[in-house]
Amino acid sequence: MTVIALVGTQWGDEGKGKITDVLAARADVVVRYQGGNNAGHTVVVGDETYKLHLIPSGILYPDKACLIGNGVVVDPEVLCAEMESLHRANIDTSNLFISERAHLIMPYHKALDELEEARRAEKIGTTGRGIGPCYVDKYMRIGVRAVDMKSRASLERAVARALPFKNEILQKVYNHPGFELEEVVEEYMAYAEAIVPRLTDTSLLLHQARLDEKGILLEGAQGTLLDVDHGTYPFVTASNPTAGGAAPGAGLGPNHIKHVLGVVKAYTTRVGEGPFPTELHDAIGDLIRERGKEFGTTTGRPRRCGWFDAVMVRYAVRVNGLTGLAMTLLDVLDALESIKVCVAYEYKGERLEHFPTDLETLKE
Ligand code: IMP
Repeated sequence: MTVIALVGTQWGDEGKGKITDVLAARADVVVRYQGGNNAGHTVVVGDETYKLHLIPSGILYPDKACLIGNGVVVDPEVLCAEMESLHRANIDTSNLFISERAHLIMPYHKALDELEEARRAEKIGTTGRGIGPCYVDKYMRIGVRAVDMKSRASLERAVARALPFKNEILQKVYNHPGFELEEVVEEYMAYAEAIVPRLTDTSLLLHQARLDEKGILLEGAQGTLLDVDHGTYPFVTASNPTAGGAAPGAGLGPNHIKHVLGVVKAYTTRVGEGPFPTELHDAIGDLIRERGKEFGTTTGRPRRCGWFDAVMVRYAVRVNGLTGLAMTLLDVLDALESIKVCVAYEYKGERLEHFPTDLETLKE
């Protein structure tokens, strides 16, 4: 068996859940390596539909180990709720492991996500789940990690390190009352009960799986054009969904990843703001949205729809080092006599073959 990274080649929502599900059947370990519950997979098994935001969809198979890697930002409230909903459906989660190094989304991250988005003159259209603010704290080195939930004292220490910064901003900039240390700790100690038994050094677990020649599937969330480095900045998420992010986000060496499979939809969609060259504002766009059920798994927002953009996908092939492509949702286009494919952009009389960095160029 081998190590495969699976990534989205567009703006997310490429139908990765479907391909993950197919590949997970053959893998032994399924790993999430970045993002958080801004993602959403809809997996349909028989008559049942499962909407998962954080837990890898491999959990629906009884014999797979499912890992939430260190690169993921974990909202313990969401994780506990997702585990409970799986238990209610009689799905065993004893094979779910969470990296001790994963950062936790705290109540102040969610508050700040909403307040910052409201304050922005130019909206990003974030999912409001606290993802960006959590990564900000990670890089500011005031993040709270899953390992901190192992004791009340360590959780208190970690939250106390962050809270003065967060409260000062919340109160002085946003007129928000802020958060009490004891209340936050109390709430998170309750989640700790369900989460701490699943905490482990997931990198070590993966290392052992590799030595045992197990099949490992690294499951990217979002997509290439939402990557904080390679996406349509600033209309991006705060992590690296591209394949390069899989190594540090899972705790593997880059040379351990043998295949990089890109998932591509037969048309393009986007949630949130930002330029979208092939966007359709007509009845065809509406038809694609309806037939493709293009409404967000996480926020329920209608997705913007447009034709397939080969300039974008070529770019995704390059920045991910794709070794293969899996195309989804081709049947959505069955209702159309003919379809269009964008093969290059035209900008001020010039033909552009490569995806531009400047959003103004992309917009025009
Ligand atoms: P954030 O990740 O909540 O900070 O949102 C940043 C941008 O990424 C927004 O435009 C979101 O709509 C978009 N986004 C985040 N996660 C997903 C996803 O799973 N699918 C599609 N768009 C996403």
